[in-house]
Order: sequence, then C-alpha cells, then structure tokens
Amino acid sequence: MAPASAVLLVVLISSSAAVVLTNGAGLHIELTNVDAKGGYTTAERARRAVERSRRRQLASRPSGGGDVRAPVLWAQGEYMAEFVVGDPPQRVEAIIDTGSDLIWTQCTGCLANHCFKQNVPLYNHSASRTVKPVSCTDALCKANAPGNACDPRDGSCVFQVGYISGAFAGHLDTEVFTFQSGAVDLAFGCVGNNNLDAKGLNGPSGIIGLGRGALSLVSQTGAGKFSYCLTPYSRNDTVSSHLFVGDSASLTGESPVVSIEFVKNSTDPTYNGHYFLPLVGLSVGETKLPIPSALFDLRQVGPGGNWSGGVVIDSGSTISILVDGAYKALVEEMRKQIGGSQVPPPPGGDDDGEQLDVCYSQGDVDKKAPTLVLHFSGGADMALPPANYWMDVGNSTSCMAIARSNDTTSIIGNFQQQNIHVLYDLDQGQLSFQPASCSNF
Ligand SMILES: *[C@@H]1O[C@H](CO)[C@@H](O)[C@H](O)[C@H]1NC(C)=O
Ligand SMILES: *[C@@H]1O[C@H](CO)[C@@H](O)[C@H](O)[C@H]1NC(C)=O
Ligand SMILES: *[C@@H]1O[C@H](CO)[C@@H](O)[C@H](O)[C@H]1NC(C)=O
Ligand SMILES: *[C@@H]1O[C@H](CO)[C@@H](O)[C@H](O)[C@H]1NC(C)=O
Ligand SMILES: *[C@@H]1O[C@H](CO)[C@@H](O)[C@H](O)[C@H]1NC(C)=O
Ligand SMILES: *[C@@H]1O[C@H](CO)[C@@H](O)[C@H](O)[C@H]1NC(C)=O
Repeated sequence: MAPASAVLLVVLISSSAAVVLTNGAGLHIELTNVDAKGGYTTAERARRAVERSRRRQLASRPSGGGDVRAPVLWAQGEYMAEFVVGDPPQRVEAIIDTGSDLIWTQCTGCLANHCFKQNVPLYNHSASRTVKPVSCTDALCKANAPGNACDPRDGSCVFQVGYISGAFAGHLDTEVFTFQSGAVDLAFGCVGNNNLDAKGLNGPSGIIGLGRGALSLVSQTGAGKFSYCLTPYSRNDTVSSHLFVGDSASLTGESPVVSIEFVKNSTDPTYNGHYFLPLVGLSVGETKLPIPSALFDLRQVGPGGNWSGGVVIDSGSTISILVDGAYKALVEEMRKQIGGSQVPPPPGGDDDGEQLDVCYSQGDVDKKAPTLVLHFSGGADMALPPANYWMDVGNSTSCMAIARSNDTTSIIGNFQQQNIHVLYDLDQGQLSFQPASCSNF
C-alpha cells in the first residue's frame, strides 16, 4: 500500500501534463519499416505486410469492456518508431497508429502471464528510476474509461483494452520517452498481460497511438498537429520515414498542397477517436465509378443510435479496405482497363478469400494500370499512382493492395500513403497532403 502522500504527489505530477520538450520545434521521430532489418525481398515484404493486415482485420472489432474504439483499432502496420524509455534507457519499438490512442509496450510483468515475441528486451519497470504509476483518480486514468480500474493495493491505474483477437491489460505509468529530437514525459500502458498469439506484432514491442483521445501522443504533448512521410514500401534499404509532432509538422516545398476537412459529425466518442475523411467517389484513370457517395457516409443508425460507416485514414493499417459496393465497382473497372488476364493470388496467402484477390501479371499492371483518384467533398482529390495501390507479390504478379470491407467502414491504409507528406492539423480540423520524396527528408 503506497502512502497517501505518494499518491497525491503522483496526481500532481501527472495532472500537470509535465511535458518537457528539449527541442522547441516539437518532436521529430524517425521511423523504420518493420521488415527493413529482415533482409527480405520486396515480394516477401509485401506478403508479410498483407499477412499483418489480415491479422489486423481480424482484430478490427472490440470485444465488450475495455476502451471500445470501433472500428479501426491498434493495427499491425508497417512503420515503427525506435526510441528509449526510462533511466537508464531501455529500448522500445512501436508501430505508429492513427487508428488508436494508447501508447503501450510489453513489460516484464507479462512473463508470468503472456508475452508475444518482440525484437527488443521487455521493458522492466523495476529497473527504471523515472517510472511513476498513474493514480486511478488522475484524469489520464479516467480518460481510458471504461477500461480503467483501481488497483486496490495501491490506488494505481489499471487499464484493459479488449479486441476480438486479444485483450491487453496492465498498469498505466508515466515515463521519460527519449526520441531523436528530445525527451518528453508520457503516460503509457505497461502491458502485463495479453493474449495475442506468439507472433504478436511481428517484431515491434508496442504501439504509439496518434488518435484524438486523451492518451495519444498528440493529445499528451498538446500538439495541434502532426505529420508523417512514409518511404516507399518497395525500397530495399533501411532509409527512415519521418513523424513530426507539434511545430515541426509542416508541408514545405514546391509540390501542391491539397486540404480536406475532417468529418466532425459524430458525437460518439468511440468514433470521434478516429480521423474520418469525407470520401465521395473514386475514378480509375478518367473514368468516374458509379458509386453512390452515401456508401461512404458516416451515419447514425436511428436517433441516438450507434454510428456506422465512414472512411478512416489510418497509418497503422497496411492496405485499404473499401465497402462492398465501392470495391465491386473498382474491381470491375480495373478488369476493363487492365484486361481480362487476371491471375490467381500467390499461394500461402489468404484463406478467408478477403484480401488481395485481384492480381494480374506484373507486365499488364506496369503497362496498363491507371491512376486511382480518391475524390473528397469540397473538390479535393488524392491521386494514387499505380505504385500506391499495386503490390509486387513475386512470380511476376502484382495484386491490388485494396480489399473488400465486410462491414460498413472503409479504411485508407498506409500503402496508399507512400511518398505523400500527410499533415493532420487538429486545430484547423483538416488533413493536408502533398506528394513528396519521403526518402530524401
Ligand atoms: C536487396 O538488397 C540485397 C543486398 O543489397 C540484395 O541481396 C537483394 O537481392 C535485394 N533485393 C531486391 C528485391 O532488390
Ligand atoms: C528487472 O529489474 C530488476 C531491478 O534491476 C531486477 O532485479 C529484475 O531481475 C529484472 N527483471 C527482469 C525480468 O529482468
Ligand atoms: C451531419 O449530420 C447531418 C444530420 O444527420 C447530415 O445532414 C450531414 O450531412 C452530416 N454531415 C456530415 C459531414 O456527415
Ligand atoms: C449499439 O452498439 C451496442 C454495443 O456494441 C450494441 O449492444 C447495440 O445492440 C447496438 N445498437 C444498435 C441499435 O445497433
Ligand atoms: C511461384 O511459382 C512457383 C511455381 O508455380 C510456386 O511454387 C511458388 O510458390 C510461387 N511463389 C510465389 C511467391 O507466388
Ligand atoms: C468479417 O470477417 C471476419 C473474418 O473473416 C469475421 O470474423 C467477421 O464475422 C466478419 N464480419 C462481418 C460483419 O461479416
């Protein structure tokens, strides 16, 4: 049982959002492709990405209890931040995920329960001089409601997050996180228990949530904006991608900037955590697809009912997912423009028939695949060159890196965001982007 004064001290410290940026420009975090160190070929990386994405999809519905953040949750994406936590420093590797809020990493506590495989040693909270528990009376603990609870032994904050593919539990602590650009005090989930399978995240030890919720990196640092630039997936080297949080996040250079207002209709906190975009249509080359824009609407099921639908932009998902009607129209038009020579998906892939089932010979794709344009309300367009939606899967085969959603929500994944500098301006309520050469930052 901790003495009451210690609990009070913790409350004072963590409630004052003790953010110490050693660099006034905000945070700059270099990102590594999850597979960059594995010596994989481009095709192997593509297959691994799809494998992760498939597993993410299975995880895309929260189970009861916990911090319910439907429909896009933590994900098994491609780009991770490497940094150190605590004093003396311990290494952490975390996927950056705009689809969730919590920052978490597995802790040694999971040894007694369950840990998945990760590249770096487990974070050992007993070995750090700077870790502090968050009290369950702290606003940060309440922010995680209803997944939060009080540890009866010491009044510290216990969190629980539930997903279909697994549940995570642990203590909410604060620690010093040190990125290349400087150090910052952050509350994070020290995961002591989870039931993901042993592959876990395929290397990374946790996730950095960049969602709108109070516990995300963006909210905790009080940053009004953040941006990232993701290097091409096919790059066969370890060049870094970049995440900027705070003042350092800005679009520069010659290429034109396009802005889109975030959809801000929903009052449902489980949907408010996400970044919804007002997608209204698609064009394949010059051909506008016959898709009713209502297919993409974020809507409430009855007065006071649940929210459904919508289109989310997500850094933590690999491929994009489109609602059925839009997916069918897209596949049909691709068939017309590329030709009838569809080839089977690579073996060892997909058993559930959901993903990457539209494949052509690479030669046909190289010759005939047009630009895919996403149209947003307000007239903004995002033009995706073939490299941003065709994946080389080996054996001279390219598959469309877009799959069918089996519910009402669509997702714009990170494969579609390669070589685009994407700025989330929360103060302005808009997403801006420009084509960029992300390897040359
Ligand atoms: C990637 O680079 C390695 C080492 O330079 C090389 O052996 C391998 O063939 C390359 N893979 C591809 C797909 O270019
Ligand atoms: C964690 O650190 C403490 C203190 O240094 C040490 O006694 C303990 O053995 C470590 N636990 C693990 C699992 O490494
Ligand atoms: C917000 O909701 C209203 C009423 O349901 C609807 O008319 C409007 O189109 C919605 N706006 C957006 C951006 O979805
Ligand atoms: C709304 O969502 C809750 C929680 O998932 C569910 O129990 C309830 O049945 C849903 N209501 C409707 C009208 O779909
Ligand atoms: C490539 O084709 C060969 C022969 O059909 C097959 O055995 C192999 O699994 C294929 N590899 C991939 C990555 O599709
Ligand atoms: C979506 O697909 C997953 C995996 O195949 C399945 O578990 C889930 O029930 C499906 N959801 C719907 C709404 O069909």
